[in-house]
Amino acid sequence: MTIVLSRTLASGKLDADVLVAPIGAPASVPTSLASFAPEAATQAARAIALGDFDGKPGSRLLLHPGGTAKIPRVLLVGIGDGLAPSGSAAALRKAFAAAARDPLFERVQSVAVLADLLGTGAALEERVAAATDGLLDGMYRWTMATERRTGAPEKVVFVSVASQGGARVEAGVQRGRAVAQGVTLARDLANAPPNRMSPEDLGKAAMGLAKSHGLDVTVLGPRELARENMHALLAVGDGSDRKARLIVARYTPARRKADPVALVGKGIVYDTGGVCIKPIESMVEMKYDKCGACVVLGAIAAAARLELPVPIVAVIPAAENLISGSAYRASDIIGSRSGKTIEVLNTDAEGRLVLADAIDYAITEFSPRAVVDVATLTGAAYFALGDHSCAIFGTDDALIARLREAGDRAGERAWPLPLTDDYRADVSTPNADVRNTSAWGAGAVAGATFLQRFTRDVSWAHLDVASVSRDRRTPSRGATAFGTRLLVEALAAWPKAAAPRARKRRR
Ligand code: BES
Ligand code: MN
Ligand code: ZN
Repeated sequence: MTIVLSRTLASGKLDADVLVAPIGAPASVPTSLASFAPEAATQAARAIALGDFDGKPGSRLLLHPGGTAKIPRVLLVGIGDGLAPSGSAAALRKAFAAAARDPLFERVQSVAVLADLLGTGAALEERVAAATDGLLDGMYRWTMATERRTGAPEKVVFVSVASQGGARVEAGVQRGRAVAQGVTLARDLANAPPNRMSPEDLGKAAMGLAKSHGLDVTVLGPRELARENMHALLAVGDGSDRKARLIVARYTPARRKADPVALVGKGIVYDTGGVCIKPIESMVEMKYDKCGACVVLGAIAAAARLELPVPIVAVIPAAENLISGSAYRASDIIGSRSGKTIEVLNTDAEGRLVLADAIDYAITEFSPRAVVDVATLTGAAYFALGDHSCAIFGTDDALIARLREAGDRAGERAWPLPLTDDYRADVSTPNADVRNTSAWGAGAVAGATFLQRFTRDVSWAHLDVASVSRDRRTPSRGATAFGTRLLVEALAAWPKAAAPRARKRRR
């Protein structure tokens, strides 16, 4: 694991395999580059004059200054208007992530970043956080290959010239690192193949966070789930020998007591579709059907590291949707924790079933201020939005607006789809209280409409991340952990609660 640090140095005292210089557009040569690597500054000026480097987002230029042996390489990284007062941290993160994906980062041991170029004051801290997060994101690799090892720098140091904002840089590094670690945790869990990640294993991974992050974690097994009447979650897990679990992780800040924000994440460790079996091309990517769960764990882990002032409870229904003599069937009518009966018309619409029980549990056990669920729920979300945005639905416009703003800041866009009363007919059936599929199109809306039936009167939002949970354009990059940064941003900006409500169970 790469260590990221901040250090204050006198100019000229730098030693690194590569020095990264973030440069805005229109490009110009910053004076601190000249003070650390004079020959590189001369080369950069020439490259800019020749039009070989323009500082636009995505532009990069590797220089080999030669003169100073202590800095053999200088990498100019274009960040466009990322340095303008109006520039977005998301753009900066993206530029640094793209730079760190360069194979150069597999060859070098130590990387220095000129923090001075990132501004002053609060903006400096925010930009260093974004750059740190971006670098760690870009360097992320996942493989179980034993014969091919790719290197990564041991150390990334943000350097600032003596007496220039060292404390801000340090704070930014810490923040960026906490977020990146949450994202990395989510990606590692999500990338784990299904033979190595059962519902029980996911529970154990959450248990690990109890120790490392001071969370309060409990895992309910099949017997407890039966006692809780979680028939929908159990039904989905019935076809697998690796039985369902409900994972509950709580983060309580030291100072503020208030009702928690509940995060619910779909944790289907593998989705064959059940007896309504999927074709092989889509089945092979179904280890990613636990991404919602992983995102929620990554977010609560980061929130704990950042000591955010808002209490959080993560509730994860974990199950494996398999096929066997004990699997549930299309046309089964099953119960649920809420008491509502569900007609199962497609065993491949399993996510909404496990979420229904988990949402009900979160609401009645914890009286949350709000419930946000994250789920790889429908292929239809991909048809609607492609891989640039996730779909967002909900019962509280203010909550949706806050989540969307957080997503924009985090570079994880959420776009609303309708959740109006007329869609309720699509998931109605004479045979039960609700059915799990619609015959009338709008698959992503039908999923959300189904979930809404289980949200009682609580402020609720649903993120359908099916289209963005893995990198389809660069499949080797695996899970994106899309949603983790959005949630952390939203939690960090969560409005202060009124005095805690009396702890009344809503059952
Ligand atoms: N896990 C899938 C959704 C999915 C599809 C995630 C593609 C990632 C990529 C979900 O359980 C599912 O199978 N949904 C069905 C619902 C349908 C049967 C109503 C779908 O989208 O086809
Ligand atoms: Mn499915
Ligand atoms: Zn699924």
